[in-house]
Amino acid sequence: MTVSSAPGKVYLFGEHAVVYGEPAVPCAIERRATVSVERRDDDRLRVEARDLTLDGFTVEYSGGSADRPDVNVPTPLVEAAMGYIDGAVEQAREAADAPDAGFDMVVESTIPLGAGLGSSAAVVVAGIDAAARELGVELAPDDVADRAYRVEHEVQDGQASRADTFCSAMGGAVRVEGDDCRRIEDAPNLPFVVGYDGGAGDTGELVAGVRELREEYDFAADTVRAIGDIVRRGEGALEEDDVEEVGRLMNFNHGLLSALGVSSRSLDAMVWAAREADALGAKLTGAGGGGCIVALDETPAAETALSYTPGCEDAFRAELDRKGVRAE
Ligand code: PMV
Repeated sequence: MTVSSAPGKVYLFGEHAVVYGEPAVPCAIERRATVSVERRDDDRLRVEARDLTLDGFTVEYSGGSADRPDVNVPTPLVEAAMGYIDGAVEQAREAADAPDAGFDMVVESTIPLGAGLGSSAAVVVAGIDAAARELGVELAPDDVADRAYRVEHEVQDGQASRADTFCSAMGGAVRVEGDDCRRIEDAPNLPFVVGYDGGAGDTGELVAGVRELREEYDFAADTVRAIGDIVRRGEGALEEDDVEEVGRLMNFNHGLLSALGVSSRSLDAMVWAAREADALGAKLTGAGGGGCIVALDETPAAETALSYTPGCEDAFRAELDRKGVRAE
């Protein structure tokens, strides 16, 4: 059996503006998806999923859309999950030149699903790495990142950016600007605290909303550019180990995202709870509308304050994870 894991991520700066060519800085966090893989004698896949904030499921099938599983969880979620697993297996088969390889797979994840923390990217990255190694092929992390991006791109109908998959495969803080992705070496320790409202926004709708505002109002286009300016300042602050400045810039970034209409009452409540507990900064992470916020706090105060905030379903520490995909 071969086991790999890969981290989820938060956006330190730059979501939404990244869609219009501005840079963004996602950061890997200490919450992982783990995929265990064992080769079978036939060409079938058996997939067991646990802790995916679904109830979990077990399916055996031959891959492809004709042979869909009969399980007791909402079909679109299973369809999406299976699309990612199919894609990961396909990439490993291609890398190892073993088109008929079948596998038993177990997927485990402690990353809330669909909440802006890159859960699907982590599953795809870990899945490609584990299945390829089970077939005797060691892929470089940037190759895993590229293959995982192709899977997300296909499953999400061309809507995926490289941010989640690159960050999950490489680990640490990364900078993404269009197709240009690189690690930010020597980023300081970032004491992340995540607050999760138990929900999720509709990414497509939120991105469309920002696009309309940007087309209608020059000042909305200026706001998007200003987020890009924050990201560039933030990169400088990271290079200078100035975590307090990083926090101030996160607060500014949240304000601009809010002006673009992508925050929500529960996200704002969590952001303010963290700030009132003296977090260095707090902002929503990902598409918005619901889901997660990220705060910077070395002390237990923000996590405690979040856990008492109405509308916050889960609060947890998840520091910057410098390791990307790895063998377990
Ligand atoms: O919620 P997530 O982690 O899928 O992030 C969405 C980020 C956006 O910038 C809003 C969209 C994108 O594709 O970059």
